[in-house]
Amino acid sequence: MPDITSELAGDGVVLLRLNRPDALNALSLSLRQLLAHHINELSMDDTTRCIVITGNDKAFAAGADIGELSRRTVLDVDFERSRVAWLALESCPKPIIAAVNGFALGGGCELALHCDIIVAGESATIGQPEVRLGIMPGAGGTQRFVRAAGKVATMRWLLTGDRMSASEALGLGLVSEVVADQDVVARALALAEKIASLAPLAVRAIKETVLLGPDAPLPVAMALERKTFQLLFASEDRSEATQAFIERRQPQFRGK
Ligand code: CAA
Repeated sequence: MPDITSELAGDGVVLLRLNRPDALNALSLSLRQLLAHHINELSMDDTTRCIVITGNDKAFAAGADIGELSRRTVLDVDFERSRVAWLALESCPKPIIAAVNGFALGGGCELALHCDIIVAGESATIGQPEVRLGIMPGAGGTQRFVRAAGKVATMRWLLTGDRMSASEALGLGLVSEVVADQDVVARALALAEKIASLAPLAVRAIKETVLLGPDAPLPVAMALERKTFQLLFASEDRSEATQAFIERRQPQFRGK
């Protein structure tokens, strides 16, 4: 079995499962490169509207592969190859939902934080324990965590490496929803199907604007929003949706 399996899990929805159960889905470089390959393919596939990434009952992902980390020196920590693997997720225009059961630690937490929506099981365990290994988060953990949870909460969790529960993560705004463990993938797929049924250009525009805006000064971010909003008025889907509302029928979106 490959380290990642891919299946069509609904209309326009693809489910990617991390599949290294013996290592709690530790994110080896090869697994991350395979993930990047899948994400790049799906990014360019017009029929894919939303992606769900999950692990198994015990682990979403327990972080970078510590065996690999232990063999690396400062000279052969291959930041560029590692960066390219994460870049696929960063630049994916389609919404990505993390369905998190079990451990989401270190790079596993960072993988979830790369996603747009995070559905966590009530027994999920989340954290950035890198400090306990004498290192620090290196795949966006310091930056995405602080943007979601703010400085003092981020310092509390990153400086101790403590693990938090799903409800603590929900309280910090690090996950979108907490559901019963057995419902995590079904809930993520239901959200994905709903998103996949909506106007693709609008979905894409919302994702892009939400991600870009917070790093720009507010007037620039507001201008970005206005321009993107304006652009959507050129889409056929906008005309179709407003007409469907007036005619009291379901719109047929074509991504045009
Ligand atoms: N890398 C490699 N192997 C790992 C792993 C990891 N991150 N996490 C777990 N495994 C392996 C274990 O070595 C073990 O393998 P064997 O059966 O062959 O011995 C198997 O998965 C099961 O793990 P445990 O026996 O430890 O399971 P447990 O239930 O007792 O403990 C755990 C679970 C608390 C998650 C524990 O495995 C653990 O602490 N893992 C490491 C978590 C961690 O520190 N992650 C951060 C890594 S650094 C990082 O992520 C940096 C970055 O991105 C930049």
